[in-house]
Amino acid sequence: CCSGDEPILQQPGVSTSDQNKTYKLAGEDVARYRRALLAWYREHKRDLPWRRNDDPYSVWISEMMLQQTQVNQVEPFYERFMTQFPSVQTLAAAPLDDVLKAWEGLGYYARARNLHRAAVQVVDQYAGRIPESLFEISILPGIGTYTAAAILSIAYHKDLAAVDGNVIRVLSRLYRIHEDATKGPVKRRFQELADGLLQKGQAADFNQAMMELGATVCLPHKPRCTVCPVQRHCRAFHELSDPSGLPYKPPKKERPHYDHVAGVIILNDKFLIIQRPFDGLLGGLWEFPGGRRRENELVTEGVTRTILESTGLIVKTGLALPTVSHAFTHFKITLHGFFCAFIEGEATAITCHDARWVSLAHLADFAFSRAHNRLIGIMKKEAAKGQVEMFASAAK
Ligand code: ADE
Repeated sequence: CCSGDEPILQQPGVSTSDQNKTYKLAGEDVARYRRALLAWYREHKRDLPWRRNDDPYSVWISEMMLQQTQVNQVEPFYERFMTQFPSVQTLAAAPLDDVLKAWEGLGYYARARNLHRAAVQVVDQYAGRIPESLFEISILPGIGTYTAAAILSIAYHKDLAAVDGNVIRVLSRLYRIHEDATKGPVKRRFQELADGLLQKGQAADFNQAMMELGATVCLPHKPRCTVCPVQRHCRAFHELSDPSGLPYKPPKKERPHYDHVAGVIILNDKFLIIQRPFDGLLGGLWEFPGGRRRENELVTEGVTRTILESTGLIVKTGLALPTVSHAFTHFKITLHGFFCAFIEGEATAITCHDARWVSLAHLADFAFSRAHNRLIGIMKKEAAKGQVEMFASAAK
């Protein structure tokens, strides 16, 4: 094989004159591609927990978790989540706080909030049955084009092509497309290409085979072309010295950096924690009170100001904790934590959703963002050395 002049797939919707002349229109190649891919998938697919049944609820949870998150990171979360919330009814009946706690560490918490809202809707409006129609499933919170197609194809065997980042990578190499898939028209073209390739009647396996190829063979940096089951069809393989130049990646923008501040206030052996408003970044997660430092403001001033604004408490900053760095999708932060002495006031949820005094042992009952969890980790270490108790008694 791989002589370089093997016919490859015709690009649907693109005239033959636009194609590299070496590659002819050959409908039979599409059939070959499908056969090769499906045979490879059936032999090589990974044994993943959500592949053990096609119950729509399990498929839905796995697809929500797999958005923006890698399979190996998702696996333990998925198993725990399914044990805790085994059905859409248990999920809908659970407090959002419990769902966020189960999601803690997985990131992109809007997914958990949407999932919970959608579970309530599925129970209320569809008697607990996840809708089978594209229209109905697409209007549930958190379900976009990709997730709708993935759930409907895997759970209900509908002929819909699911196009995620892995599939874009596979297609961009297969058809040698060097265009920005975040742009609407380009995205639609990828969807059309995927629709054209889809093996009707086998959408569940076909979609997962495309994703599996992207995740295990058609890798972003070091594609394993020598073991690729569809190598003979791949334009990038035949025409480019390095297929990893595809897909097109928009130039990376430098992410802005912000200083965030937080105060660890201990009163009667309890810590003050606040819950972030539900709308917005990290909505519904808990944290030590604080916020973004203003320009030209000392970090210690930032601590006292943000604590006063969010909770109404007047505090005095004390010992600094080691700083914690964290990168979000669009910006990076350095979190400056300080032990604070309570001066006066009553903790009130002013700009936050809730404010509570909680013992060190009970902090684990609340879902914290990664950066604040690292502060807790630091404090637990300090507590073991008696430092937190020392500070707490000094602050009394
Ligand atoms: N990524 C998104 N959905 C997936 C699935 N069902 N299997 C493996 N990886 C995936």
